[in-house]
Amino acid sequence: MPESKPIVIYGAGGQGRVVLDILRSVPGIVTVGFLDSDENLHGSMVDNLRVLGDMRVVPGLLTEYPGIASVVAIGDNRARMDIARQLSELGMPLVNAIHPRAFISPSAHIGRNVTVASGAIICAHVRIGDHVIVNTGAIIEHENNIGDGVHIAPGAKLAGRVTVDRGAFVGIGAVVIGNLRIGTDAVVGAGAVVLHDVEPSSVVAGVPARPIQPKAKGG
Ligand SMILES: CC(C)(COP(=O)(O)OP(=O)(O)OC[C@H]1O[C@@H](n2cnc3c(N)ncnc32)[C@H](O)[C@@H]1OP(=O)(O)O)[C@@H](O)C(=O)NCCC(=O)NCCS
Repeated sequence: MPESKPIVIYGAGGQGRVVLDILRSVPGIVTVGFLDSDENLHGSMVDNLRVLGDMRVVPGLLTEYPGIASVVAIGDNRARMDIARQLSELGMPLVNAIHPRAFISPSAHIGRNVTVASGAIICAHVRIGDHVIVNTGAIIEHENNIGDGVHIAPGAKLAGRVTVDRGAFVGIGAVVIGNLRIGTDAVVGAGAVVLHDVEPSSVVAGVPARPIQPKAKGG
């Protein structure tokens, strides 16, 4: 019998449920629990898996489960990268959650703490950084360069040779034509059709996508 790999999921919200589904469909993985920074969740059950605590229980988990690793399942890009940094500082290895029904080209490069949800397609020579979410049914065409901490939301489609810089968010169902650059921390709204480069930290939405002044950043 091959040994099973223990994994703890950081984040017991919506993205945590997505990652739990993914890990439960991968043979050889045992999910030992959730961690979450929200103390109100500690001790509760989410999809029949207990929320064990927060960063404070990490040293105990490392002792109790040899070979344990973590996936950070938080939709907010900044929070996901911050929690990943804290886990790494405590010596918790970070691994990927790749759904068996996602397609990843053999020529693609995938970083660590990356989630690829069901139905996602990652094509030839794509580079995906660390702490990235490629959500359900997203399509990332050939030679995209996806920076650390990016979130490509469900059903978004990026044509060939798009660069998405660190921390950017591409909303659900958005379309980005080829050869464009989405700047650092930029937000592309749901359903947008992006025809031009997007400035860092800007928010664009609509068809065709134009800058908007949002009241809040939405994930
Ligand atoms: C773009 C976005 C981040 C802006 O969020 P917000 O700060 O709450 O923006 P507001 O609701 O204040 O909207 C500001 C204006 O932009 C418009 N707008 C917002 N999102 C839009 C969108 N996706 N497409 C077209 N127009 C949009 C609003 O209608 C509003 O226009 P108005 O001033 O004429 O009324 C958000 O609407 C969005 O699209 N988020 C993506 C969510 C998503 O993909 N989630 C998936 C998670 S897995």
